[in-house]
Amino acid sequence: MEQRGNFTSKLGVVLAAAGSAVGLGNVWRFPTEVGNNGGAAFILIYLACVLFVGVPVMLSEFVIGRHTHSNTISAYNQLAPGKWWRIQGINGVFVAFVILSYYVVIAGWTLFYLVEAVMGNLKESADYTAYFNDFVSSPVSPLIYAVAFMALTHLVVVRGVQAGIEKCSKVMMPMLLLIIAVLVVCSFSMPGTSEGLRFLLQPDFSKVTPGVVLSAMGQAFFSLSLAMGCLCTYASYFGSDTNLFKTACSVSMIDTMVAVLSGFFIFPAVFSVSGVEANAGPGLVFITLPNVFNMAFQNVPVVGYVFTVLFYLLLLLAALTSSISLLESVTAYVVESLHQPRARASVYVSVLSMLLGVLCVYSFGPLSDVKLFGLTFFDLFDFVSSKILLPLGGILICLFTGWYLDRRLVLDEVTNQERLRFKLFRVYLFLIRYVVPIAIAAIFVNELI
Ligand code: PHE
Repeated sequence: MEQRGNFTSKLGVVLAAAGSAVGLGNVWRFPTEVGNNGGAAFILIYLACVLFVGVPVMLSEFVIGRHTHSNTISAYNQLAPGKWWRIQGINGVFVAFVILSYYVVIAGWTLFYLVEAVMGNLKESADYTAYFNDFVSSPVSPLIYAVAFMALTHLVVVRGVQAGIEKCSKVMMPMLLLIIAVLVVCSFSMPGTSEGLRFLLQPDFSKVTPGVVLSAMGQAFFSLSLAMGCLCTYASYFGSDTNLFKTACSVSMIDTMVAVLSGFFIFPAVFSVSGVEANAGPGLVFITLPNVFNMAFQNVPVVGYVFTVLFYLLLLLAALTSSISLLESVTAYVVESLHQPRARASVYVSVLSMLLGVLCVYSFGPLSDVKLFGLTFFDLFDFVSSKILLPLGGILICLFTGWYLDRRLVLDEVTNQERLRFKLFRVYLFLIRYVVPIAIAAIFVNELI
């Protein structure tokens, strides 16, 4: 049996967990959702979801992970031997596996766009839509890039918790935050900024429906990496002096900040070029933005070049730190429960997930007409994981921590055996016992009906 790794510093803990949380969800999915769901009103609902649902669920995952110091499936088995709660452990690892398989597809596109941006090929395309469609529907390139990205992820995970995950997070996360700061400043110096800001800051509540609230909640779960075993697994590497509540707050704050800042540089840029729609859908970052960057910086092409390269580098770093946590969640299970050496476990998981990923890669090309329940494989995996399994997982985690686990155990864990004070314990307990499960269930049922 391999020795379990541990994060060695507080900074490492926060940056690794924030690395999992900050991902394509922040830079790609969040602005798209904001665009589709009425701008500022969506952001406000999203903030409420993070505060009242995200933080309590994250804290609960931390409690489970750190208390058991083991992978997600064993964690539930240890805390509730022989009980059906283990379903949530399995659900968590399973969802991580499924998400990894489609996450690498978009991450692969990002890698391709970064390479193209560096080579200066994104500048001159006359038709960005055709450019994008040609690439994603071709039978070879997107697959190669997805495999390359998966290989990068594997190379980090295989080095283990300290030398791989922690070390990379400490390099990549500060870079990512710096890039985003530069992009925001650049974007604010463009004309048309005020219109973009108005779109982000003026709420239009007429667009708010239960569907919008479900989207906000789904987005919060996805963006904070909740309910899929990633944070639970990372927490199993936390030391006994890690302040779980503080960490949950820092991670949620960094994640939300990056999402909102992404909106802050994307929308002003989009609005600075007339004739481009804000709600351009998932094509936003691959069709709209290269176009926008190019047009906005027509007079200073060098700035346009740097801006574009930085943007795709940002996306790539964000994607990588997240996919690492997805792969780690499943790998930790294979290492500990199936007794495989880490190197082999990581290869197994990467290869299997990539096989599933092929279906997702080809959902945009040769398999685009193959549909189950009216959805391509890619959309189906996304729908099942983020709209069904994640909310269900969220409910189970709350009920497990709030009702099943001994209250004393939970209190000891959040206070580090009473070495810390946690004044909000009752509020936390109330939220995970009643508010969060009821809220998730209500929105979920409403949506299904
Ligand atoms: N939170 C990541 C994002 O925002 C996605 C992710 C989901 C990562 C689940 C890990 C686990 O893109």
